[in-house]
Amino acid sequence: MKRLAIALALVLPLATLAQAPLPVEPRTPPLLLGAAWYPEQWPESRWDADLTLMEQAHIHFVRVSEFAWSTMEPSEGNFQLDWLAHAIRAAERHHIAVVLGTPSAAPPAWLTTKYPETLRTNSNGQKDGHGNRQQFDWSDPKYRELAARIATKMAERFGHDPNVIGWQIDNEYANESYGDADRTRFQDWLHAKYKTLDNLNARWTTAYWSETYQDWRQIPIENNYGNPGLLLNWRQFVSDTWRSYQKNQLDVIRAHVEPRQRITTNMMGWFDAYDHYTVSQDLDFASWDDYVGSGQLDPIRNGATHDLTRGFLRKNFWVMETQPGFVNWHSDNNILNKGSVRAMAWNAIGHGSEAVEYWQWRSALNGQEQYHGTLVGADGTPVPLYTEVQQLGVDFDKAGPALAGTTVQSDVAVLQDYNSRWAINWQRHNRDFDPVNSLMSYYKPLHQLARSVDIVSDIAPLSRYKLVVAPALNVLTPEAITNLEAYVRAGGHLVLGQRSGMKDEDNTLYPQRQPGPLASLLGARVEEFYALDTTIPVSGVWGSGPTTIWAEQLGITSPDTKTLMTYGKSNGWLDGQPAAVTRQVGKGSITYIAASLDEPTMLKAASWMLKESGLTPTLPNIPEGVDVALRSGDGKQILILTNYNPDLRTITLPNAMEDVLTGIKSSTVTLPQYGVAVLRMN
Ligand code: GAL
Repeated sequence: MKRLAIALALVLPLATLAQAPLPVEPRTPPLLLGAAWYPEQWPESRWDADLTLMEQAHIHFVRVSEFAWSTMEPSEGNFQLDWLAHAIRAAERHHIAVVLGTPSAAPPAWLTTKYPETLRTNSNGQKDGHGNRQQFDWSDPKYRELAARIATKMAERFGHDPNVIGWQIDNEYANESYGDADRTRFQDWLHAKYKTLDNLNARWTTAYWSETYQDWRQIPIENNYGNPGLLLNWRQFVSDTWRSYQKNQLDVIRAHVEPRQRITTNMMGWFDAYDHYTVSQDLDFASWDDYVGSGQLDPIRNGATHDLTRGFLRKNFWVMETQPGFVNWHSDNNILNKGSVRAMAWNAIGHGSEAVEYWQWRSALNGQEQYHGTLVGADGTPVPLYTEVQQLGVDFDKAGPALAGTTVQSDVAVLQDYNSRWAINWQRHNRDFDPVNSLMSYYKPLHQLARSVDIVSDIAPLSRYKLVVAPALNVLTPEAITNLEAYVRAGGHLVLGQRSGMKDEDNTLYPQRQPGPLASLLGARVEEFYALDTTIPVSGVWGSGPTTIWAEQLGITSPDTKTLMTYGKSNGWLDGQPAAVTRQVGKGSITYIAASLDEPTMLKAASWMLKESGLTPTLPNIPEGVDVALRSGDGKQILILTNYNPDLRTITLPNAMEDVLTGIKSSTVTLPQYGVAVLRMN
């Protein structure tokens, strides 16, 4: 904006400049603090009071309009966007930028009444009705036409608005539809993919239980218990359909808006109803809604969820919603402890977020979420948490320049794959085998030692990593096999976890034992898997500890494959058998860990993995309970420390560093509980 004003000054005669009101510069600094604001719920006469309070809290942007369809199009084709233009101008007067949400998550009553075919059908065959949200059918062409039309009107009107900085499409994609028309579209999708029924029948082994199909129209939808090939394809169809649902709006927005208005949608962390890599790929950046729900923040698991979101497009992301203290939708909606809302925001920034937005600014006086946490009460004045968020706004303004141009740079990647998570969750075999917990059992010690960890898909480029860990990579597609083999042969260090390499891209068992097509590279195979009803001992180069939930018996097939861990006395089958093996492949290696290790043993295993990969622990002397995040780029290295211990911690740094929040340069930092330091390392 500043640049635009200078450019105008050079070309326009002075008299014109004197008359034209100078645009107010929106505040779009490198770190953004935001709030979800619903101007349509309040009289325009109230807006200035709210925006004044936001400006005083150093809030830089508001997200608006994502549920305002009935206000923007009160009857079919009757578009009313003047109020939104007023809200954008009002925000601008307070130096607050705007992210516009397209309203398709909440269709108006006239729409669902006139076009009942746009309503979704639940998995039990019932049609959804008006009165809540997300009641639309994501594959219905009429719904897409109407959603694209309102998005077009918005983009035409605001695509060049200087105070609009971005777009959110819809809101938290979640519910697919199971109607007759959806099933027909699924069948057509299968036809296009498999070409012939003979091919589909063979790849899904439909001779089993006489499932063989003679006609595409015979194929049902199954989303829980059914042929594993059918289940996996339904989830992939769901993912592709969310992608095309999104693209339907994205294309019309992109056609009208300036590229500086970046486009995203707000996702939901580990939520797995669709493949987030599929859906993210058309967006400009990823974002997610970070809610603790009940209890207090777990900074490691929350940090991993940020890493997951950063991995969708392998770049910085936004927290599009987070809780101002508490939510309303859990059974126990306790507040986060004083200080931890600020700490939680720094957890996001440390893992690569560029924005933290609170949902919501003020509760609507009526509506389904009256009890949710806010920054302003029903009376329009600040709640106690407001000052904590205000402090954060001050923090962001101070630290923004230091963090500009930086991101998380990791030598270690943990692979995450939706096909594998679905496949395991449909047939857990031991109900306690949770693929996300399995991933976390690796992530936690790796994060403790390496500090920065990427979570990426199994077909992401891997050459930048020294160490790649694939916990429970149950489904191995041809692309993933090529990617992983090439990585190891180029000198990379690959660690496979339990249940890896069992199935192909149709969720069909590989005719080789695990890890399937990677077994020959490993020089070992899984002889048998066992769901455990007891704890059994393992011991070896990582010391000794118990294994629970799941154990696989390994058999060595190559003389240069070495045993790292061995099972002790157990069910007889596992006694004395290999529990972890490794094989050198050129300068690289491939390792298979067949036991679920407890935390201390996993920490030793992670330490071994780092050593094998030529890595050393990063900042090893920081006290336990102090979260460490690193961002670098643009010639800068920034260290973010947050103390989650209940009392003070003094941290000795490797050299004197300046805390950009306090301006103090020192080689020690003392932090109270939830205290944060943002340190320039160079
Ligand atoms: C989110 C949703 C918001 C609001 C919030 C309450 O999932 O996107 O609209 O409902 O939850 O926590």
